[in-house]
Amino acid sequence: MTTPTLDRDRLSQQLKDLEAKALQAIAEASTLDTLEQLRVAYLGKKGELSQILALMGKLPPSDRPTIGTLANTLKEKLLQELEARRETLKAEKIAAQLAAESLDVTLPGVYRPQGHIHPLNSTIDRILDIFVGLGYTVANGPEMETDYYNFEALNTPADHPARDMQDTFYLPDGNLLRTHTSSVQIRYMELNDPPIRIVAPGRCYRRDAEDATHAAVFHQIEILAVDEGLTFTDLKGTVTTFLAELFGDVPIRFRASYFPFTEPSAEVDVQWQGRWLEVMGCGMVHPAVLKNVGYDPEIYSGFAAGFGVERFAMVLHQIDDIRRFYTSDLRFLQQF
Ligand code: DAH
Repeated sequence: MTTPTLDRDRLSQQLKDLEAKALQAIAEASTLDTLEQLRVAYLGKKGELSQILALMGKLPPSDRPTIGTLANTLKEKLLQELEARRETLKAEKIAAQLAAESLDVTLPGVYRPQGHIHPLNSTIDRILDIFVGLGYTVANGPEMETDYYNFEALNTPADHPARDMQDTFYLPDGNLLRTHTSSVQIRYMELNDPPIRIVAPGRCYRRDAEDATHAAVFHQIEILAVDEGLTFTDLKGTVTTFLAELFGDVPIRFRASYFPFTEPSAEVDVQWQGRWLEVMGCGMVHPAVLKNVGYDPEIYSGFAAGFGVERFAMVLHQIDDIRRFYTSDLRFLQQF
């Protein structure tokens, strides 16, 4: 008879030691990899539990079931602990990943300075809106003009004294930079039959020395209506309505004036902060202008008006110097 080299108590003590060691190691494992290494070390084919079980053959047969049961219970317990720990680590890993990748929408953003519409453009937009509301169509023409469209067709021949006030920049080919948007009247009428109602905004040029109220480049808006039976009353009503929309309920007056392309002609003043301010020129379209575009002045009549945008913007926003519009000084521009 072989003498058992092991007794039951020693083996069960070894199982208990393994249990304590394994449970602590599992609890302390901080990564899934470590956990897998522990599983192999304790429960793998060559793991510690297998090594202990390999010794069972050396126990008296009557002790084997007890130890077998203990070993199986331990194996189950370690498997459960490994699984539980694995779940915990997985959840922690996901939580850490979420925390790292999540976006905190309450953090302050990256601010970029926001631009806005230039006060000259917003003034143009306001004025166009008013005339579009009155049934007018927006029209445009070129800034580089011929002498014909800028002067001749507007009843201003080469020797006309009115040209003195509209000296401009001349191009080598004899063309020029338009001095007013009135040239758009001619271009539009040449291409369209009455009735017409247009509002034409655009850049204009004059050889003026720059100062607080003059710029060599500036903006105008032109108004033109031609139809059968239009009278000065229509002109007055339109201008009055427009100015009331823009300035509110302020006194206005029409003063007799002269322009080569209108007859009669008038200038319009607005009473603004205690002073009369001249804001536009206007009049009934001269019959010679209508003839130049092939309209019969016996059938059609029209009225026209023109004004500087800078002037309006300066009055509306209390701006003291026209040059502020063009110098791109943010301290100025950001006020609007
Ligand atoms: N074109 C003129 C200027 O630049 C302004 C003007 C006056 C336009 C009378 C008109 C008008 O249409 O009827 O000074």
